[in-house]
Amino acid sequence: MSEPTTISEPLLRALNRMRSVLLDPEQLVKAVASGRQRGTQPAWRRAELRYVDLKSGTHLQITTYDDTQAFTANHPVGDASALDDLLEVPFASWHVDTVAERQELLVTKPTTARVTTTLRQAQGADAAAVGAGAESVEVSRSHDQAKERLLPEDDPVFVELGLSDKDGRLKPSRQAKYRQVEEFLRHLATSIDDARAKGQLRAPSAEEPLRIVDLGCGNGYLTFAAQRYLTEVRGLPVVVTGVDVKEQSARHNTDVAARLGVSAEFVVGSIDGVVLDQRPDVVLALHACDTATDDALARAIGWEAPLVLAAPCCHHDIAAQLRRTPTPSPYAMVTRHGILRERLADTLTDAIRASLLRMSGYKVDVVQFVESQHTPRNTLLRAIRSGGAVKGGSVKKEYDELIAGWGIRPKLGELLGL
Ligand SMILES: C[S@@+](CC[C@H](N)C(=O)[O-])C[C@H]1O[C@@H](n2cnc3c(N)ncnc32)[C@H](O)[C@@H]1O
Repeated sequence: MSEPTTISEPLLRALNRMRSVLLDPEQLVKAVASGRQRGTQPAWRRAELRYVDLKSGTHLQITTYDDTQAFTANHPVGDASALDDLLEVPFASWHVDTVAERQELLVTKPTTARVTTTLRQAQGADAAAVGAGAESVEVSRSHDQAKERLLPEDDPVFVELGLSDKDGRLKPSRQAKYRQVEEFLRHLATSIDDARAKGQLRAPSAEEPLRIVDLGCGNGYLTFAAQRYLTEVRGLPVVVTGVDVKEQSARHNTDVAARLGVSAEFVVGSIDGVVLDQRPDVVLALHACDTATDDALARAIGWEAPLVLAAPCCHHDIAAQLRRTPTPSPYAMVTRHGILRERLADTLTDAIRASLLRMSGYKVDVVQFVESQHTPRNTLLRAIRSGGAVKGGSVKKEYDELIAGWGIRPKLGELLGL
């Protein structure tokens, strides 16, 4: 890949240029639109475009996503109407991969776009420098292609981490973990785009890479996958730090980093006390146990991290409190049954976390990040710091009423002094 070049230009001009690339089946590999422009409510959360070969000829396949479902439709080459409709949708960003280059279009103002282009094959003197490392990409049109992987199973990261065997085949026993990491990465990628489009996350550079910390990193599956995907696939300079109480985890991960030849730091320590050299831009926590997720959220808030993605694990704390305290009327019919009480505890815990993040100046989404057959712990809290004045009054009142009513003391509330 060449050094990226960035220009600012009128949005319409940038979209028009992109339109001709999207309409060219010989050029387009894949395009993704996501996020929303400030003050707008796009009909779709995300859209993906690629060409597929069907019996009736080559078609532009457009998959659009709302909050719960994906909708796929195929349009014959030359029929631009669906694409034109999609270009009207106020997405915050477009990523377009062609055989020759990668383009990232970020809408920075209502009528302005910042377009970053990275050539796949360096030209002339650069080509010699890039040498055998130069990337080449082919258009894949297989219709029944499986859902596209962000990082394929045979990626060296997964082989080194033992999710895949030495021939790059995913081990049957590790499929759920692979899927979890893959889906978390998907959310990380779209959230970074979204936060950048909203102007809440700075553009990283080689000198000032994006600082990502993975709290409760365990064996570093997510840490290494995020590093690999963001740098190699997305061309974003990042530095990753993993934090875990277990010394064995830091030893293991440091060895893996050396074998992969990537620079990543692993710190032994508890989330609530860890000291980082610099504040992170992105805080991740994937299944940090029980209230370790609260520690992670409290640290992220304290660091004023622009982007936080946390998939909570077990929820023992509130579940235990619910068992000890009298249930407010008329909810005894729910807490009478153990399984329902546990589920209620899960829901209360994450609703409270989302509410406390909102009070702390974040815009929060609570979404499912992976299908439940891969893990029942499949809720993701996605928080982007808005930095604006917090309308805390009504949210705080709601929070106070809820914890008083149920007689509970949420750990995150205590950590934040709320
Ligand atoms: C269920 S594992 C998840 C590991 C990893 N994030 C993943 O998804 O593969 C939870 C990890 O969090 C670590 N952990 C739990 N509480 C912690 C704390 N308070 N501080 C640091 N690490 C913690 C554990 O040692 C463990 O490695």
